[in-house]
Amino acid sequence: MNNPHLALLAALLFWLISPPVLANQLNIICSNDPEWCKLMAQSFEKDTGIAVEMHQRSSGEALAQVRSESGNPSMDVWWGGTSDPHLIAAAEGLTQPSGADTSALLGWAINMVEMSGGSAIGIHAGALGIAYNTDVLAKNKLPAPACWRDLVNPVYSGLIQLANPNSSGTAYTQLATLVQIFGENDAFYLLAEIGWNVSFYTSSGSAPSKAAARGDTAISVGFMHDMAKLIKAGYPLEIVSPCEGTGYEIGGVSIIDGTHNFEASRRWVDYVLSKEAQALAPQVDMFNVPSNANVPLPPESPALESIKLIDYDFFTYGASETRARLLTRWDTEVDPFNRTER
Ligand code: F6P
Repeated sequence: MNNPHLALLAALLFWLISPPVLANQLNIICSNDPEWCKLMAQSFEKDTGIAVEMHQRSSGEALAQVRSESGNPSMDVWWGGTSDPHLIAAAEGLTQPSGADTSALLGWAINMVEMSGGSAIGIHAGALGIAYNTDVLAKNKLPAPACWRDLVNPVYSGLIQLANPNSSGTAYTQLATLVQIFGENDAFYLLAEIGWNVSFYTSSGSAPSKAAARGDTAISVGFMHDMAKLIKAGYPLEIVSPCEGTGYEIGGVSIIDGTHNFEASRRWVDYVLSKEAQALAPQVDMFNVPSNANVPLPPESPALESIKLIDYDFFTYGASETRARLLTRWDTEVDPFNRTER
């Protein structure tokens, strides 16, 4: 091509029609079960050729990292983790709309899109419950709890494990749930009383149920899908849907604002919303309720219709000010001696 104008035109045309350059590696904060994080990274890599580096974080830790890296993020996407911190990240402009197609998603997943101005999308849902180890209770001749209020019974002294809501989205969901059921002051009173029975608080939300499964504690609070995974693995756990009602999470996916890998991040979002990807969860015994309407509900999933679910107020409890106020009260009224595992 001797004509310099033609050469320039050809270069311009090539640039215009060539597909967007994809990063060859995505850094993803994964707030889901570690086995699921690994499986999804592998299946996405196989599908797209884009390598994924997973960074395991609890929901509150993920929010803290995204906040601290605002303007210069080292992460591209945040996948998994409870609704409230995803909504807060969106409201603080730390995440950005992906523009992904949400037409196959169930109503509650789309609500999250609407509440976050398009920045967070619901990937699955799951209800909060109490679990107990049947062997430990039988050995100690203890009654099974049926209600939140039962957890204050002094017979459980030192036998309950909960997570810390500063780091754990599960524990924040529990805190917000109790506030919605009992009112704020009574909820803190109840949590402080339960605190007398708590051996220590964990940073991860699934850790207490893993401890209950092993018999290291008798009772835990967590998401029922994490408990169902442990039951499938053969542990002697029983799941309780608390008699006063319970809250639930909508797990989210968000693209971090300022990522240099928007196109590849968008492919991740499309992938995790797809029927194919969501249908993989039972392969690693994850039994959340999938957000894609075309994915069958695994038979092991705790059926949401049979649980007394509260009308969880994501708008109020997914606001920075509410979260900050409740966490300050939790630190001073529930765990003033800082009994969180390190
Ligand atoms: O283990 C999976 C899971 O229960 C998710 O469904 C949930 O979003 C996440 O863990 C919460 O973990 P954490 O309480 O540690 O933030």
